[in-house]
Amino acid sequence: MIISSASDYREAARRRLPPFLFHYIDGGAYAEHTLRRNVDDLGALALRQLVLKNVGAVDIATKFFDEDVALPVALAPVGLTGMFARRGEVQAARAATKKGIPMTLSTVSVCPIEEVQAQVAKPIWFQLYVLRDRGFMQNALERAWAAGIRKLVFTVDMPVPGARYRDAHSGMSGPNAPLRRVLQAMTHPHWAVDVGLLGKPHDLGNISKYRGEPTKLADYIGWLGENFDPSIGWSDLEWIRDYWKGPMIIKGILDPEDAKDAVRFGADGIVVSNHGGRQLDGVLSSARALPAIAEAVKGDLTIFADSGIRSGLDVVRMIAQGADGVLIGRAFVYALATAGQAGVENLIDIFSKEMKVAMTLTGAKSISEISADRLVREVAKAVS
Ligand code: FNR
Ligand code: LAC
Repeated sequence: MIISSASDYREAARRRLPPFLFHYIDGGAYAEHTLRRNVDDLGALALRQLVLKNVGAVDIATKFFDEDVALPVALAPVGLTGMFARRGEVQAARAATKKGIPMTLSTVSVCPIEEVQAQVAKPIWFQLYVLRDRGFMQNALERAWAAGIRKLVFTVDMPVPGARYRDAHSGMSGPNAPLRRVLQAMTHPHWAVDVGLLGKPHDLGNISKYRGEPTKLADYIGWLGENFDPSIGWSDLEWIRDYWKGPMIIKGILDPEDAKDAVRFGADGIVVSNHGGRQLDGVLSSARALPAIAEAVKGDLTIFADSGIRSGLDVVRMIAQGADGVLIGRAFVYALATAGQAGVENLIDIFSKEMKVAMTLTGAKSISEISADRLVREVAKAVS
């Protein structure tokens, strides 16, 4: 199959993965309105074509905190990445490090912190959820710090898991799920060998390390449901703010009021996100929520945005809407599932090239020159 874009990787991943995994990645919550809005609202932002601006070479490098990055993109935390390709978190971290961008390891990764960090020379980022078991949280923070990790992404938009109806149909959950997953694996031999056979152990590495026994995939949804904690507020997080001496980035902000609270709390960054449309269906797209949030807190902390980004053009659009940088989820996962580390490296190259074209044709020489001026104002107003 010819691959020239993230959407080609999506199609390739659809063919390669057992359906229960493809739909777990691809799907969203409930009727998937927000999932679609994320993509559609970004696409609806019209870039301003500005020509003969003597742009010359465009520079897409920037900084996230003290860290130089080759382009303003980080890999988002994605649970179960090690089920999409053999030891997938390690492959993703290698690709990101080689291409000069950060990789964020999910709490619910297959490969534990230590396995991933040992394979790359630069510190990765670590994502933590608010969980009932504060002992686990403490343990995960200690292990991340000991491994040399300094950037903490703290996800706050999962006090309860939003229902993903596709999972019930695909075999991820629902009736006879274990049997259906085995049957699907048998009809997807590339995946069955690469991940099913050679990608073991298949457990939630960080949680297994803490519990001292394997936490299996079959327990995944159950473990999440039992352990997310809806009964917390900002004050319950203060011990983490006190404990964690590196930059702390709050992920899952979609409202200016929450963004201001994050500033008051002492966060160093936020991720404007609706979890890729996987939590509360019906909420605003990130592209639409971003301008008001940027107006409220720009300059007070670093603003990242995610949800719906499928190309370098979308990266430019998010930055023009007010982000300092972006996270990409599904786009890199499709590439990883298709071609492992090489796929993710290629995807990052595709994004870089797309960004350069978008910047050249909108007259922006550097990331700092990407502002609302690069968008057609009347159209952008309708998407905010
Ligand atoms: C996620 N996301 C996520 N977020 C998080 O903080 N911890 C996690 O473990 C996961 N797991 C996860 C699994 C899968 C399969 C997906 C697709 C997403 C959300 C992720 O970090 C990010 O916010 C979205 O993926 C961004 O939207 P796009 O780029 O996928 O549209
Ligand atoms: C998800 C969780 C793991 O979105 O964050 O599936």
